[in-house]
Amino acid sequence: MSTSIHRSVRRTAALGAALVIGIAGLSACGANDDDNGDNGDGGGSGDGASDNGGGATSGTIALLLPESKTTRYEAFDKPMFEAKVADLCPDCKVDYYNADQDEAKQAQQMTTALNDGAQVVVLDPVNGEGATGMVEEAQGQDVPVIAYDRLITNADYYMSFDNETVGKMQAEALVDAVGEAGDILMLNGSPSDPNAAQFKTGAHSVLDDSDLTIVEEYDNPDWSPENAQQWTSDQLSKYDPSQIAGVYAANDGQAGGVVAALTGAGVALDALPPITGQDAELAAIQRILAGEQAMTIYKPIRIEAETAAEVAVELLGGGEVSGTSETGIEQTEYEGVPSYIFTPIVVTKDNVADTVIKDGFYTAADVCTGDYADDCQAAGIS
Ligand code: GAL
Repeated sequence: MSTSIHRSVRRTAALGAALVIGIAGLSACGANDDDNGDNGDGGGSGDGASDNGGGATSGTIALLLPESKTTRYEAFDKPMFEAKVADLCPDCKVDYYNADQDEAKQAQQMTTALNDGAQVVVLDPVNGEGATGMVEEAQGQDVPVIAYDRLITNADYYMSFDNETVGKMQAEALVDAVGEAGDILMLNGSPSDPNAAQFKTGAHSVLDDSDLTIVEEYDNPDWSPENAQQWTSDQLSKYDPSQIAGVYAANDGQAGGVVAALTGAGVALDALPPITGQDAELAAIQRILAGEQAMTIYKPIRIEAETAAEVAVELLGGGEVSGTSETGIEQTEYEGVPSYIFTPIVVTKDNVADTVIKDGFYTAADVCTGDYADDCQAAGIS
């Protein structure tokens, strides 16, 4: 067994001590670290989950996602996770919850999920720090928690894209696109989202050493496009739009709000300054092709959702999970939590065809609607 996990998984359902059966790429080993003395089946398990240390043949997994304004969660994370679980464990059930950016609602959803028999929880927290109590609640019932996309420091496992690199890539692309000294606005993500701090750190590490000057900076409390638009409009009453050489927006939703504010202040679509983004949302890909947004960050979500499904199904079988995932990602440790970290990809007009289209994240038909048909043709997308 190639485990390098130093922490103990509290769920103690499994036996078969040293037996390692990795039905997929990962392997789960039976917990021999029974720390609650009951030497047996943890609460919430026992309705058929495999006890041989391999992936389960049945059981209940709860998936808790944070919001629905960013399109990735409902359009990609949820269906891709569910499909992979169905593939690995046809008799497993996934109970899905979306918190709509409401921390209290998410805490309630955790309680409901546990009451409804969840044996493993995959949790993308609205508030990373605030979610430690939710993790304790689950672990107190011997239910392991996978922190999905956003770190929770007491989770059993964590997976995400390399978030600091995301911020660096965005900032480097902005510096390149502006191409000279100039004043920029900076819109970061929600302070309750641990990823937002990492994007911000990465971006500052590049911007602070560049010829760009951040004249105003904003931490958007809920990532919302509406707040981004309002804040940017407010800045444009202080600064002439022609003074703004570029805008760092931490995600595509906010980039959309920035475009609305700038055009609302009289800037023509073909005279927008370079604007960054993240998530490869469809509207952002179209703006990139039309020259209205400089770049986005494409996170191939399938790898994240499928790794989460794989770990969750292995955990249903009991014990610890180690090794390299079926998706080819080696387990590492991040802040003491066994982790899987994925690589983000920069998308500009030049590589839309080779990234999101080639991967089937979007079809040409999705992107090349109406006025975008000509832009698609120019970018070699058909
Ligand atoms: C982050 C996530 C990003 C993005 C952002 C809101 O936590 O990593 O991909 O969805 O929330 O846009």
